[in-house]
Amino acid sequence: MVTRINPSILAADFANFERELGRIRSADLVHVDIMDNHFVLNLTFGLAMVQRLQQVSPIPLDIHLMIDDPDRWAPDYAEAGAYSVTFHAEAAADAVALARRLRSIGARAGLALKPDTAVEPYLELLPEFDQILVMTVEPGFGGQSFMATTMPKLRALRSAVAQSGLDVWLQVDGGITEKTIEIAAEAGADTFVAGSSVFGAADPAAQIALLRASAARHRHGHE
Ligand code: DX5
Ligand code: ZN
Repeated sequence: MVTRINPSILAADFANFERELGRIRSADLVHVDIMDNHFVLNLTFGLAMVQRLQQVSPIPLDIHLMIDDPDRWAPDYAEAGAYSVTFHAEAAADAVALARRLRSIGARAGLALKPDTAVEPYLELLPEFDQILVMTVEPGFGGQSFMATTMPKLRALRSAVAQSGLDVWLQVDGGITEKTIEIAAEAGADTFVAGSSVFGAADPAAQIALLRASAARHRHGHE
């Protein structure tokens, strides 16, 4: 099974995105956190920014929408060419219809769950999604501490994915370091978002390699 490392540009130098993207070209995808100051109490980038990143990024875009009314806005990000568009289960009016729309445009469809959101109601929807994002911090800010209390959700998802035979990626986001990545990998994650640990490192490429190796070592049993 592939291990994916997706650095979050929330922790990058906002004055130099093109240069920052060049520092993470050994990563799998670049994670872009869209916040609207309503679904979460923070405001970041919007569609125009993503359209421009799409033009200059050496690696595909992994969009994480922390916004109200994703039913209205998410398709625009797929139309912009994003490889993957993930919206929150707590915010979507019709998650299945939205996922189908994203796929029909050509993007991978992702469903995100906040730390307190139960996974059980969504297990039967796995065929509708390409990725499930288990938030390992409360969404809204980078630099928070990893919540190991979310790992049972990952285990439930990993076993449901294995039973289904589907290739649904299981992503974790928040507080991922070379230590906490071991816990998430062991619990069944295969796709790891890391903001401060990658962009806060003196050598982001070396940190990406370290995270990748750390995760791979702890994914035994999930191969
Ligand atoms: C938090 C964002 C994360 C954030 C992760 O709401 O969704 O993607 O950038 O940052 P770190 O890795 O610093 O916790
Ligand atoms: Zn994110």
